[in-house]
Amino acid sequence: MSAITYDFSGKTALITGASGGIAREVARIFHGAGANLVLLDLAEEPLAQLVSELGGEDRIVAMAGDASSRDDIEALLELAAKRFGGLDYVLPVAGIYPEATVRDTSDELWRTVMQINLDGVFYLLRSALGHLRPGGAVVNFASVAGHRGSHSHGHYAASKAAVIALTRSLAMEVGPDIRVNAVSPGTIETPMTRDLVRDRGGNLLANTPMARYGHPSEVAAVAAFLCSSAASYMTGEVVHVNGGLFLAG
Ligand SMILES: NC(=O)c1ccc[n+]([C@@H]2O[C@H](COP(=O)([O-])OP(=O)(O)OC[C@H]3O[C@@H](n4cnc5c(N)ncnc54)[C@H](O)[C@@H]3O)[C@@H](O)[C@H]2O)c1
Repeated sequence: MSAITYDFSGKTALITGASGGIAREVARIFHGAGANLVLLDLAEEPLAQLVSELGGEDRIVAMAGDASSRDDIEALLELAAKRFGGLDYVLPVAGIYPEATVRDTSDELWRTVMQINLDGVFYLLRSALGHLRPGGAVVNFASVAGHRGSHSHGHYAASKAAVIALTRSLAMEVGPDIRVNAVSPGTIETPMTRDLVRDRGGNLLANTPMARYGHPSEVAAVAAFLCSSAASYMTGEVVHVNGGLFLAG
């Protein structure tokens, strides 16, 4: 893939779920474009590994914590303020994708999915508004599931549909200072989709005009575009990155 590079030097990007398949590519592209990074994920070790891969802590602060916890989010924002003086880009990437039909979804599973995929995004965005500098941007991570539903992932689809509605609503409230958009990935090869690809990959590929799964960097590239000045008149938009799966499947 040919890479378009942006100049994010002097800017600060906050990324949750940072050790995950898509978010680490987001971290790479923003860091490569000069941004400071504020990273959050559950476990310390993979975060430390990512920081070292990116060249060390010079322009990065990383914290192990829970993206669905108000306290952890407040601590992360405090860390960002102390180290970099504010934020320019917020990318709540953390998410989970457990499998259960609606019939088999317990109250607990429903709450867990909503807590991480939706409540956490809301807590972060609400609090981050006090830290985002004018000209800043939010990129949320929705899913093709949020547009058309997803067999055995009704909780997930519902959480992502809500993220789309939250994206559009917030865009109405915080313009013109802040732009708020979302990406809606299709089937991207990451740890999240390992089982899906194994069990239903053939069917998904048959319905994907691009005839392959997406690479995490192909989602990260769109997130970077949405934060860049190239997208300066885009807000409240949800950009599909799915190789045509949404059209065909
Ligand atoms: N991979 C896909 O095909 C696909 C498709 C549509 C949408 N998405 C969305 O893109 C985002 C990234 O997905 P991915 O494929 O990179 O998944 P992934 O499983 O590779 O990464 C998710 C990351 O989120 C972290 N995380 C989970 N719960 C957390 C919590 N409570 N606090 C902090 N971190 C937490 C995990 O530790 C992991 O590092 C998710 O929001 C996902 O729903 C992915």
